[in-house]
Amino acid sequence: MSFIRKHAPDTKEIAVATRLESMLCALAAALALSLFSPLSCAENGATPHNDPFPNGLQGNVAHGQSIFAEHCVRCHGPRGDGKGPDAITQNLQPLSFQTASFRAEFGRRDIFTGTALGKLGTHMPTWLKNMDDQDVADVSEYVYQRFVLRQIDVPR
Ligand code: HEC
Repeated sequence: MSFIRKHAPDTKEIAVATRLESMLCALAAALALSLFSPLSCAENGATPHNDPFPNGLQGNVAHGQSIFAEHCVRCHGPRGDGKGPDAITQNLQPLSFQTASFRAEFGRRDIFTGTALGKLGTHMPTWLKNMDDQDVADVSEYVYQRFVLRQIDVPR
C-alpha cells in the first residue's frame, strides 16, 4: 500500500499555477529575462489563444450566456464594456471585455483563471467558490466567443 497519493491536479490548482506563471512572466519581462525564461510566456511568441481550459473542460456557450446574464452583467455590463448597473458604486471599475488589450491577452485559460480566482483588491469575486468548474468553463467560453472572437451577436 502506498501512502503517497498521486493525483491529477484539480482545476483550482491548475488555475493557481496558470496565474503564478503569468505573474512570473510579467516579472521576467520586467527583468528583461523573457528570452531565457522556460515559461510559456506570450512575450516569447506563444499565444494565449491556443491555451485550452484546464482538465479537458469544454465550455457550453448557451449555458454560459445565462450565467453571464445572471452573475456578470451587473458589473461588466450587458455589452461587456464594464458599465454594468453596479459599476458606478465601485471604486475599482470592472474590466471591459471590449478593449484591444483584453482581446489580445485573454485566451480561454486566462478567462477561466480570472473568473475562477477573481482579482484580489478589486470587486471581482472568486467564482470557483460559488460555481463548479464546468460552470466557470461555460461562462468563460461565452466571454471568449462573444468578446474575444466576436462570433456571437451582441444583444443590445
Ligand atoms: C461585483 C462586480 C463584478 C462581478 C459580479 C463580476 N466581475 Fe469580473 N471583474 C470585476 C472587477 C472590478 C475586475 C477587475 C478590473 C481590473 O482589473 O481593474 C474584474 C475582472 C474580470 C476579469 C479579468 C481578471 C484578470 O485576471 O485580470 C475577468 C475574466 C472577469 N472579471 C470575468 C467575470 C465573469 C465571467 C463574471 C461573472 C461570472 C464576473 N467577472 C463578475 C468586477 C466584477
